Amino acid sequence: MIIDVITIFPQMFKPILEESIIKRAQQKGLVRINLINLRDYSGDPHRKVDGSPYGGGPGMVFKCQPLFSAVEDVLKYKVYPKKRRDTTKRIILFTPKGRLLNQELVKKFLKYQRLILLAPRYEGVDERVRKYLAEDEISIGDYVLSGGELPCMVFIDCLVRLLPGVVSNFSSVKKESFQDYLLDYPVYTRPQNFRGLMVPKILLSGDHDKIEKWRIKKAEELTKKLRPDLWKKRVYSRKI
Ligand code: ADE
Repeated sequence: MIIDVITIFPQMFKPILEESIIKRAQQKGLVRINLINLRDYSGDPHRKVDGSPYGGGPGMVFKCQPLFSAVEDVLKYKVYPKKRRDTTKRIILFTPKGRLLNQELVKKFLKYQRLILLAPRYEGVDERVRKYLAEDEISIGDYVLSGGELPCMVFIDCLVRLLPGVVSNFSSVKKESFQDYLLDYPVYTRPQNFRGLMVPKILLSGDHDKIEKWRIKKAEELTKKLRPDLWKKRVYSRKI
């Protein structure tokens, strides 16, 4: 998969992309992540990419032209007015107006060969970008960040670890929270007795059937208690 990130702060992404799982995924050739500086497409001697809003009001607005030009340079074809049908790529805008990100939504993007991520600052983006350039809009939560960079990094992290071959123990990825609308079961490691706090006996029993049943029961109890919204989805999806 190729991921192109269009941002005015490419340096912000470096520490995240150059560590741990994402770094290894790139080294293994499982993903290529290109950082593109939006200012290179400003068409302006001062490299300005925003302007004041028509009709007045506070703040600045990201202009259409640099964003359209940057995307078209990545794709090597015009995206508007001539729209080409290209089902291998997706252009995603990060904005609080977007669809709320969850594990299900992340998985939907695994099928694309190329994702172009637009991470503007939160000043607002010219509406024509939303309507005629972005194909998806994603929000990472009902709160306002100062820009789309962090949401974009969150998305990349969630996505890359799901690409085949990235996490060596893929069964751990399959079993983790939110699969089947269930939170993770509780886990313990050494020592068995920490200041009188004991590891549940069943986990030391060696009886793998019983352990598996206990884990499911605990995961269900936790989900019911901590995330009743998720539990409802589980009940609905399984018709329990
Ligand atoms: N930009 C600013 N806040 C955001 C959010 N919550 N999600 C996505 N993009 C954003």
